[in-house]
Amino acid sequence: MRAGRFITFEGPEGGGKTTQAKRLLARLRDQGRDVLYTREPGGTPTGEAIRDILQHDKAGEPLCDETEVFLFAASRAQLVRKVIVPALERGTIVVCDRFADSTTAYQGYGRGFSVEQMLAINAFAIGDAVPDVTLLLDVTIDLGFERITGRQKELFEQADRIEREARAFHERVRNGYLELAQKWPERFRRIDAARTPDEVEVTIWEVLKDVLP
Ligand SMILES: Nc1ncnc2c1ncn2[C@@H]1O[C@H](COP(=O)(O)OP(=O)(O)O)[C@@H](O)[C@H]1O
Ligand SMILES: [Mg+2]
Repeated sequence: MRAGRFITFEGPEGGGKTTQAKRLLARLRDQGRDVLYTREPGGTPTGEAIRDILQHDKAGEPLCDETEVFLFAASRAQLVRKVIVPALERGTIVVCDRFADSTTAYQGYGRGFSVEQMLAINAFAIGDAVPDVTLLLDVTIDLGFERITGRQKELFEQADRIEREARAFHERVRNGYLELAQKWPERFRRIDAARTPDEVEVTIWEVLKDVLP
């Protein structure tokens, strides 16, 4: 067992990952624990440069979907070796708001790349830095989007092709996450994130009791 613990938050948009990651950090800090919050892509100078490429179309050409997969993986590889693994070796609790499973869910299940290939790319990028626990904050696509936009009806009830496709994409992502949770039941904890923030926070704290040193 490593000295620290590696906790990742995953799930569809609007599940409350960022909200709950912050609440968890506050609780861990209150206990006087050494904690680290990381963001992807980014978190290292190289990762921030990659983030810039991913966000700003620097080269003046649209990024190919394949290129995007490798850029995420490259940022992750750097973050793992420069930040996450050293922190875990020092005994730090590392909390990551999205990690490798996001690539499998979004680019694999969502975008339609081979899930096996996404898993292989992730495995190469992260090496031994497999999370100790992955909290899957699961919500329906409707509820997640309602939280984010408050405009669920306009988004999804129009019989517009692009919006129907967007919805189908996010449904595939959600179902992909549920499949991953079945594939690795010892690592994944599915959390019903449709409840209040306080209820979700308490459930997460209960789940982590068995995981924290
Ligand atoms: N359990 C919850 N119930 C209602 N609203 C929530 C809940 N958790 C988060 N929110 C709100 O929903 C929005 C999206 O939450 P966020 O934490 O950013 O989700 P994510 O990071 O998973 O996309 C925010 O406005 C947040 O305040
Ligand atoms: Mg978020």
